[in-house]
Amino acid sequence: MNDINTSDPEIAGLIKKELQREEQGVELIPSENNVTKAVLQAMGSIFTNKYSEGYPRKRYYGGQEFVDPMEEIAIDRAKKLFGAEHVNVQPYSGSPANQAVFFALLNLKDKFLGFDLTSGGHLTHGSPVNFSGKNYTCVPYDVDKETELLDMDIIKKLAIKEKPKMIISGLTAYPRKIDFKAFQEICEEVDAYHLADISHISGLIAGGAHASPFPFTDVVTTTTHKSLRGPRGAMILCKEEDRLHEKYHSDKKTKDGSAKKLSQLIDAAVFPGLQGGPHDHTNAAKAVAFKEALQPDFKDYAQQIVKNAKAMADDLMGQGIRLVTGGTDNHLILIDLQPNGLMGKGKLVQNALDEAGITVNKNTVPYEPSSPFNPSGVRLGTPAVTTRGMKESEMKVIASGIAKVIKSPEDKLVIAGVKKDILALTKEFPLYPGFDILK
Ligand SMILES: Cc1ncc(COP(=O)(O)O)c(C=O)c1O
Repeated sequence: MNDINTSDPEIAGLIKKELQREEQGVELIPSENNVTKAVLQAMGSIFTNKYSEGYPRKRYYGGQEFVDPMEEIAIDRAKKLFGAEHVNVQPYSGSPANQAVFFALLNLKDKFLGFDLTSGGHLTHGSPVNFSGKNYTCVPYDVDKETELLDMDIIKKLAIKEKPKMIISGLTAYPRKIDFKAFQEICEEVDAYHLADISHISGLIAGGAHASPFPFTDVVTTTTHKSLRGPRGAMILCKEEDRLHEKYHSDKKTKDGSAKKLSQLIDAAVFPGLQGGPHDHTNAAKAVAFKEALQPDFKDYAQQIVKNAKAMADDLMGQGIRLVTGGTDNHLILIDLQPNGLMGKGKLVQNALDEAGITVNKNTVPYEPSSPFNPSGVRLGTPAVTTRGMKESEMKVIASGIAKVIKSPEDKLVIAGVKKDILALTKEFPLYPGFDILK
């Protein structure tokens, strides 16, 4: 921090304050994590200076002798992690990665099935305010009203009726396992592509805590910054061959007249279809994070994320808090605040928890009776606290604080008491031991 301290103390000051906030608080937003110092160093490296439009060994700029092997290493490690045939590590983030898959496989207005945003899907899975819902025809599927679970029979019937060209599986706020194999079988029955968006759970899959959607899924997208614990960014993994080439893409040929592979369609959609130069510094950091995820201790990490989420879910339910679906199988928990008299008060609870040093996000619950801006739930997750080394006993302390705040979200004394407990807890789990940026 020596240079930035002198050249731009304003921004340096904000970086230090953010570090303090992260150190002293408990981070429960399920899409966030704390990367290692090695990942931070790769992000801050001189690869940020380089332009590398194209792909390894096929670039439009000179000076690629170090970028090429770096990107190839990132690709090889990602293939190993997920058992994928082909990987493109260039997408800038999760939304552009999904956009690239639409661009590669669908024509404007084509029909697809996506998980409703209010019940657990992502904006890019067909929300009417997003490119996916505006440019394509989305038929949403939803959870069952009683069980709050995805029902594969209902999704199958919908797919047979609607004949979509693509079905998206994947979650943003659904606390249960997704049956990727069942989604693929439906896709094969109705001649649809299957896009599995594993952004939230890719760390669980890499660490073996959840099953991989490979080898059977056509295309997989994932962010690299959530449970996978890499830099902000994304990648697309896919099969080489296009199972639906004859039906949908028979006009797409390579220069030698052979059928374009699925991997070629995806690569062309990322560059030059949607993006220019890849962010080489980010891709270097992805490679570093993938190497970390290939180590045996990442398996323990992934298992512990799930154990911590289960422990926290049990502790919360034990204190009278209602969870959507009655628990969790993954890293996230969705609290329904309605039984606590807090319909539409997710924002109030989010802010009260923030004051107590616990960061969560307000979230809709299935069949939300209020609005996305004033929803009736909050979403929590355990990837970041698990990175800090916290285990089941620490989840108890956090769950007890959350329950107290939910029961008295406007009581400043209660909030101050929880904040004290959280400060004492986080002191025992330093985020970046020996980090010298506060100097
Ligand atoms: C399932 C899923 N897909 C895609 C994204 C988009 O990622 P990004 O915010 O990097 O664009 C998210 C982000 O929350 C997500 O949860």
